[in-house]
Amino acid sequence: MSVRLNTNYIKNFVSQHELRNIFPLIKAAHESLINHTGAGNEFLGWMNLPVNYDKEEFLRIKKAAEKIKNNSDILVVIGIGGSYLGARAVIEALRSPLYNLLTKDNPQIYFVGNNISSTHLNEVITLCKDKDISVNVISKSGTTTEPALAFRIFKEILEKKYGVYGAKERIFCTTDANKGKLKELALQNDYEQFVVPDNIGGRFSVLTAVGLLPIAVSGLDICKLMEGATKAHEDFLECNLNNDCYKYSAIRNILYNKGKHVEMLVSYEPSMVMFNEWYKQLFGESEGKDNKGILPTSATFSTDLHSLGQYIQDGSRMIFETVIDIKKPKLDFYIEEDKDNFDGLNFLANQNMSVVNRRALEGTILAHTEGGVPNILLEMPEINESELGYLIFFFEKACAISGYMLGVNPFDQPGVERYKKNMFALLGKPGFEDMRNELIEKLK
Ligand code: PA5
Repeated sequence: MSVRLNTNYIKNFVSQHELRNIFPLIKAAHESLINHTGAGNEFLGWMNLPVNYDKEEFLRIKKAAEKIKNNSDILVVIGIGGSYLGARAVIEALRSPLYNLLTKDNPQIYFVGNNISSTHLNEVITLCKDKDISVNVISKSGTTTEPALAFRIFKEILEKKYGVYGAKERIFCTTDANKGKLKELALQNDYEQFVVPDNIGGRFSVLTAVGLLPIAVSGLDICKLMEGATKAHEDFLECNLNNDCYKYSAIRNILYNKGKHVEMLVSYEPSMVMFNEWYKQLFGESEGKDNKGILPTSATFSTDLHSLGQYIQDGSRMIFETVIDIKKPKLDFYIEEDKDNFDGLNFLANQNMSVVNRRALEGTILAHTEGGVPNILLEMPEINESELGYLIFFFEKACAISGYMLGVNPFDQPGVERYKKNMFALLGKPGFEDMRNELIEKLK
């Protein structure tokens, strides 16, 4: 088990002496992190989470998951940003939407409250009709508009269907331990509650109840997920350049300083699409501030080679790629020979499809690096709960170290508030009256 950093394809872009020269910066970032002296140090709870999580709550999560699995066809997960992306990333990486059509062993999981689309909401409500459902509403602040609105709607659906008492048995709240609207509502209605710890920000919360309850309901093994994270926690404790996580942060920083301002997280498995989204929030919200930061983007190959491939190969030279190289797919497919070779594809026959995917990966890396795009490889022997747990912790720690190396506070997100204020003012929320008139003028 474990993810390995392969730096063979950045040799023409980053030299050994550059890595040695940047070491003092890594060391300073490491010390800020472990001594809790850096900006945002009140949000470092994720750092020891794999070895220091609430074991009592963990058992309750497993118990609640069993209850939901036994009495529900569908779990509706309500949350946005850090309150849903991690769960969805892990679930879809290992239990793709197509897999869910093939097996009905565990409840279907639908995510709402992560947008304000009435179409999407209506579709999920229709899917829930005539099915037994439970709801996990997740919001650290308990006040975020999108999930709060979705919860208002699903609370009513559940109460109509099961009565107030029956609904209470099917509503699970993951929120702050002490404060917020959702906390108050949970107490008033006696809903089962799970905690988003105070010292863990949304985008670092996948290994808390935020991610663990939906992941457990999907039938995945949350013990294995934590085991993987624990192994990564151990592997990345020491500050040296053999620490793959720190080396990755250092390489990103060196590339950024050479004008490579866009990182594209690449995978050759479509099931990783939501993992890419999780990574984008993690790095985007952590590094994108003070007019600085690498722009996190993503692509799924070979699909996107037919759309973005041209740009990556020949467009502006501002991109580097980080490729998640999964060595063994979950399922393989043997390509048979066709006796007439009607399509001329017999050169692909008598081998597994994963070999063809591998040649695509190798060919693309060679083409892109020759085109001036550095490629960092993160090699995973296979994809399962423990490997994903490892990868999650790898990225979380790399993100914190990268943020400190960049000189920003990796744990706040002041810019996210700006659109919310405008939206509230335009919607007529009490308290935003003056701003509303100003904005209406601007929109004219
Ligand atoms: O990472 C973050 O802090 C944000 O993405 C939040 O998770 C998101 O805005 C949802 O917030 P909350 O959990 O308070 O509803």
